[in-house]
Amino acid sequence: MTRASIPDAPSGSLAVVFNDDRGFEAIGLWDADSPIRVRVLHRGAPTPIDQSHWDHVVSRAAEGRGSLDAAGTTGWRWLHGEADGTGGLVADRYDGTVVLKLYSTAWFAHLRPVVAALCSDPRVDRVVVRLARTVTHAAAEVGLRDGDVLFGPPLSGPVRFLEDHLAFDADVVDGQKTGWFLDQRDNRRRVGDWSAGARVLDVFSCTGGFSVHAAAGGATSVHSVDIAGPAIDAAQRSMALNRDRTAGSEHRTTVGDAFEVMAACAARGETYDIVVVDPPSFASRDRDRDRAIRAYRKLTELALDLLTDGGRLFQASCSSRVGEDDLIAVIDAALRARGASLSDRGVHGHGIDHPVTFAEGHYLTAVTGLVHHRQ
Ligand SMILES: C[S@@+](CC[C@H](N)C(=O)[O-])C[C@H]1O[C@@H](n2cnc3c(N)ncnc32)[C@H](O)[C@@H]1O
Repeated sequence: MTRASIPDAPSGSLAVVFNDDRGFEAIGLWDADSPIRVRVLHRGAPTPIDQSHWDHVVSRAAEGRGSLDAAGTTGWRWLHGEADGTGGLVADRYDGTVVLKLYSTAWFAHLRPVVAALCSDPRVDRVVVRLARTVTHAAAEVGLRDGDVLFGPPLSGPVRFLEDHLAFDADVVDGQKTGWFLDQRDNRRRVGDWSAGARVLDVFSCTGGFSVHAAAGGATSVHSVDIAGPAIDAAQRSMALNRDRTAGSEHRTTVGDAFEVMAACAARGETYDIVVVDPPSFASRDRDRDRAIRAYRKLTELALDLLTDGGRLFQASCSSRVGEDDLIAVIDAALRARGASLSDRGVHGHGIDHPVTFAEGHYLTAVTGLVHHRQ
C-alpha cells in the first residue's frame, strides 16, 4: 500500500481485505496508530461483526479452555490476541474477574460488545481494563483509564484464583502483565512433579508460581529470587496461602539482581537439585538479540555452577527472537564450556490457553534436563 492510499479512517473502523481476484479475504479492525494496519478478526465467508460475532468468539475460546476448570485451574487466558481473532487484545480470567489488556486503540470502539459477551458467561462477575503504555494517552481521550472496572463491583485488592488446585492472588491493577504469568502453568506443574525431596532455586521467581508448585511437590527447601520486592512479598504470601501443602518446605527469599545473587550463592558453595531460570524477555527488539543471547548463556553457566551432579536445569526464554534452536544452542555452548552434559532433555512451550497459529506466536520455550558434571 502506498502512503497516499492510506485511508483517513478512525482506528477501530471495520476494514475489509480483498484478494487479488477482488474476492473477500478477511475483515478486521483498522488500526491507524500501528504499523499493523489491520487487526484481522475473521477470514473465510463474509460475516457481520455484531454482538453475535463477539458472543461466538468468546464462547468458542471458552470451549477450548474447558478442561482447565475441571483440573482445578480458574486462572487462564481466555482471548489470546490473533490466535482467537482478537489481535491487539488479550483477556485473562482470574476466577470471576476478567482482565482485558488493550495493545491497540482499534479496540476502544468495540469494548462494549466484547464485555457484554464475556459477562454473559455465568463465571464472570467483573471486567477490568488494563492499557499498554502505547495506548494510554489515546485511551484518556475516550475516558478510559488503566485499571478501570468496566463491569461489576470495584476491586478491593488482589483477586484469588486457582492453578492446579493451588491458590494464588493476582494483583490485576498493579501487577506485571495482567497480574500473573499464566503462560508457564504447565511448566510450573512439571517442576512441582520433579520436586519431591529437592532443594530448589527459583530465579526470576516473580510472585512465586514455580516456588509454590515446588514446595507443594515436596521440595525440602525453595529459594525465590527476584529484583522486585513487591513480587517477593507476594511469593511469601502465596506460600502461606497454601501452607497446608507447602509447610514442609523451608522458604528463603532474596530481593536482588539474579546474576549477582546466583554468583554470590556459588561463591558461598551453595548447591541445588533444581534450578529454575525464567527471565524476562531480553530481546523485545531485533537489535537486542545478540545481547540477549549472551545474557541467557551467562544465566546457564551460573545455573550449572549451582546444580548438583544429576540436578535438573529448567531454563526458559519468553522471546520469540530467542526461540527453541537458539536456546538449545545457548545451553549446549554453556555445557561445553563447563565440560558438562545434559540427559533426559525436554523442550516445552505454553499451555492450551495460549494457542499458536503463526510462527511468531510461539514465544515461550523452556529447555529442561539433568546435568552431569565432568568427574
Ligand atoms: C517472566 S517473569 C518471571 C515469571 C515467574 N517465573 C512466574 O512463574 O510467575 C520475569 C521476572 O524477572 C524479574 N527480573 C527482571 N530483571 C531481573 C534481574 N536482573 N534480576 C532478578 N529478577 C529480575 C521481574 O521482576 C519478573 O518478576
